[in-house]
Amino acid sequence: MGDDVFYLTTPIYYVNDVPHLGHAYTTVVADFIARWRRLQGREVHFLTGTDEHGLKIARTAEARGLKPKEWTDQIVPRWIELWDALDISNDDFIRTTEERHEEAVQTFMQALHDRGEVYLGTYEGLYCVGCEAFKVPEDLVDGRCPLHGTVPEVVEEDNYFFPLSKYKERLIELYRRDPPFVAPEARRNEVEGKVKQGLEDLSISRTSFDWGIPIPWDTSHVIYVWVEALQNYITAVGYGSDPAMFASVWPADVHFVGKDILWFHTVIWPAMLMALDLPLPHKVFAHGYLQVGGEKMSKSKLTGISPLDLLPTFGSDAYRYYFAREISFGMDGNFSWESMAARYNSDLANDFGNLASRVLTMAQRYLSGVVPSAPQADELTGSEADIIETFISSFRAMEQAVDELAPHDALRAAWVFVRKANAYVEATTPWALAKSGDSRRLEVVLYTLLDSLRLLALILWPIIPRAADELWRRLGNTGSISTATYGVDARPGLIAAGNATVVGAPLFPRIDEAVAAPR
Ligand code: MSP
Repeated sequence: MGDDVFYLTTPIYYVNDVPHLGHAYTTVVADFIARWRRLQGREVHFLTGTDEHGLKIARTAEARGLKPKEWTDQIVPRWIELWDALDISNDDFIRTTEERHEEAVQTFMQALHDRGEVYLGTYEGLYCVGCEAFKVPEDLVDGRCPLHGTVPEVVEEDNYFFPLSKYKERLIELYRRDPPFVAPEARRNEVEGKVKQGLEDLSISRTSFDWGIPIPWDTSHVIYVWVEALQNYITAVGYGSDPAMFASVWPADVHFVGKDILWFHTVIWPAMLMALDLPLPHKVFAHGYLQVGGEKMSKSKLTGISPLDLLPTFGSDAYRYYFAREISFGMDGNFSWESMAARYNSDLANDFGNLASRVLTMAQRYLSGVVPSAPQADELTGSEADIIETFISSFRAMEQAVDELAPHDALRAAWVFVRKANAYVEATTPWALAKSGDSRRLEVVLYTLLDSLRLLALILWPIIPRAADELWRRLGNTGSISTATYGVDARPGLIAAGNATVVGAPLFPRIDEAVAAPR
């Protein structure tokens, strides 16, 4: 069931504010994986969206004198605008205020109720509005939420409860599953350790405000925002409305989340699915937290940088590349303007961009911009065997890294090939071949290089789609890389003889690192 489609999700983002670098990080990495899987020939369903209910949003709207929905309608376009600017290729975008979500959530809740998986009780305790989560004293540092620095509010209400505690053993079994349900392993250990200490039943409704989806059998309650938000992963793929779609897409292959929301995704979400005997997601992968210049992101300290602030200087390809390459996915990381400029210049402008410029310029100069005929086996030397071998091993390493959800390793592997191609230029010295008049050897070398650019366009498209498509066209290819398939196309020796090449402007013009940072 559901294994024909590769289904991946990002969290749905709270729209109490505009997106920052941390939000874009999850989405960019997910997009890289989605595009890679598509080129592997998989049918992909990539979902993102917005989480619009709850106290945090209600208060944000109130502070602006707006109704919650008026506020979310204003701000959601700012998020969509960013995903467009970053070339995010999501197949769907779900807003929790949409009817398709609200209806399906009610179906889900009613089903829990009908199965006796809901009871009425009283909740007395602490609530952090920033986290939209209940807290126990052990979660706090000096009485404050460590993430938001605020003192949680005391809440006492009649609430409906979900009997989370009874799922303890089944959850522990789930964490032992192979392939692992929770990754990376340190996160698995963290969540398993916490669950072993015992689980409290979960309050799943609120009566003190009404910005949420009503409990279907008791509309004086709204559903706790997290319970309803998690369900977006199934309401968007036909749960309760389109059984055929639901059967083919669900369960998710991977939910990408930040480490701060691990508990919801690896405890509450699977337990709720277990309660309805629904299939469980294959994996929840929790990435680390980003800091800016070594500090927590914060608007007041100028570390709350909008991704849009970086695009005029770096462009969307370099933005995507930097975050996926610089930070080990799963670990905490740090953004700085200087490291972004340095990586842009070294990897994109120098290694990759220069390679493309040099090869296309030589093809123009020595071959009048026409791809020569492919070399015969007896025309290949050890140098060609070496570069082809490097492509094959780099590509294999990339495939494995993507399977392991290690985008940084995938890109590192790609650059082994980029550097090898540069070394091949130095070793074969086409300019000397041109002088010596060995025209067939010159053709063999330039064919090999043009074909290497073609291969690079294919394997880098998932992370730098604009430059890859541009390079593809400059190599005289028609069509779009998006319709290629790795199994067919990611093989050496396939650039077509006779293709007309174009030199064009640098794909990644160098940035002056000294003047790049805004003052
Ligand atoms: N609405 C919930 C998610 C519901 S999913 C059913 C939520 N939203 S959020 O907007 O606060 O956060 C969304 C994601 O952004 C989380 O995965 C979180 O980890 C990530 N990040 C927020 N700040 C971040 C950093 N500073 N660094 C990296 N990721 C961060 O939680």
